[in-house]
Amino acid sequence: VDSDGTRVFRLVAQEGRTELLPGLTTTTWGFNGSYLGPTLRARRGERVAIEVTNGLAEPTTVHWHGMHLPARMDGGPHQPVAPGSTWRPTWTIDQPAATLWYHPHPHGQTEKHVYRGLGGLFLLDDPSAEVEGLPSNYGVDDVPVIVQDKKFHRDGRLDDEDDGNEVGLLGSTVVVNGTYAPYHEVTTERVRLRLLNASTARTYAFGFDDDRSFLLVGTDGGLLAAPYETKRIRLSPGERAEIVVTMEPQSVVHLRSYEPDLGSVAAPFAFGGNDSFDVLELRAARVLAPSPPVPGVLARLPEPDVPPGGRVTRRFVLQDRQINGKRMDMERIDEVVPVGVPEVWEVRNDDLVPHNFHVHDVQFRVLTIDDQPPPPELAGRKDTIYLEPRRDYRIALKFEDYVDADFPLMYHCHLLLHEDEGLMGQFVVV
Ligand code: C2O
Ligand code: CU
Repeated sequence: VDSDGTRVFRLVAQEGRTELLPGLTTTTWGFNGSYLGPTLRARRGERVAIEVTNGLAEPTTVHWHGMHLPARMDGGPHQPVAPGSTWRPTWTIDQPAATLWYHPHPHGQTEKHVYRGLGGLFLLDDPSAEVEGLPSNYGVDDVPVIVQDKKFHRDGRLDDEDDGNEVGLLGSTVVVNGTYAPYHEVTTERVRLRLLNASTARTYAFGFDDDRSFLLVGTDGGLLAAPYETKRIRLSPGERAEIVVTMEPQSVVHLRSYEPDLGSVAAPFAFGGNDSFDVLELRAARVLAPSPPVPGVLARLPEPDVPPGGRVTRRFVLQDRQINGKRMDMERIDEVVPVGVPEVWEVRNDDLVPHNFHVHDVQFRVLTIDDQPPPPELAGRKDTIYLEPRRDYRIALKFEDYVDADFPLMYHCHLLLHEDEGLMGQFVVV
């Protein structure tokens, strides 16, 4: 913490070697280490500054995914950090407690930079809305679970070449927090897992191997109004979920990814729709410390603000690496959005392949999917949603402040190959 109270973080992007497969090391990228980066953590109301140094041989950027902040601090494709130089964004945390993350966003290179290992969690706390009863002892009963799939060459080298798959890189090995076949020793009755799908292309459907139910307590932008008991949670690239699972002493359960329902895509098997994985083993100790029950009310979640009559203010159709018939152009502003005015965006995937939709700077709310209210897992604050083909997703969003007519923010598909190939647009808030 600086003399003026700013919480300062340092991130150095660098190349290193990591043993992602047992006994075999491979060249990887990480922040402050060889793979992934430290969990950053700050409180609502706190000023943060991040010194991002690029120790790689090529430019990269670092984007604060899910963060409400001025466009010039956002770390998108317009903010390359040259090799050897340092970029120092600073802003004040002004949003609810949430599991956010950070990752590179260099124009056309995001898939490779993330795949090689650049990324990390950015946890936000909100002392004014502390929830008693949620496990919150980091690393003990509040555990980050960064899920990524990888493919390897025979000699153990990370294989980061696209093999022509329409969605991008799909690997047959899953690592969690950069660890192969991971386990966590559980010492408490309840464990909160902060799941992040940090894969570049793969969508997961998380659940447990004995099919037990768990409580979904939070999504991308914060806690749900109330816990939702379920057995599966689907996460597409970039999405997060906080779940609480109850354990019995001396038991072993596995978090798995079941075959995800990708909606009416043309060939689900080609996009991972038939794949399942063991993700994380939970090994409970002989004696578990008691955990309080999860409270029935978690957060205040006001009705989303919408324009009169819920009128749709903008439409976005994703098709063929284009949004509304346009490929990403760094020099073109696609949308000019007025500050402080509620908007409804209608978003549609008109392809028969998986896409999702992410918007910078804002947490939105899903109003309807094909005119129906969203399921409970999509009823909270979201910044990324999976788009089942040929369905209309209406989302409510409002850009509260930080006007900047000259510096764009992005909306895009978070399947990173698609993003790199142009499935992205730019907007300014005025
Ligand atoms: Cu997580 Cu525009 O990105
Ligand atoms: Cu896509």
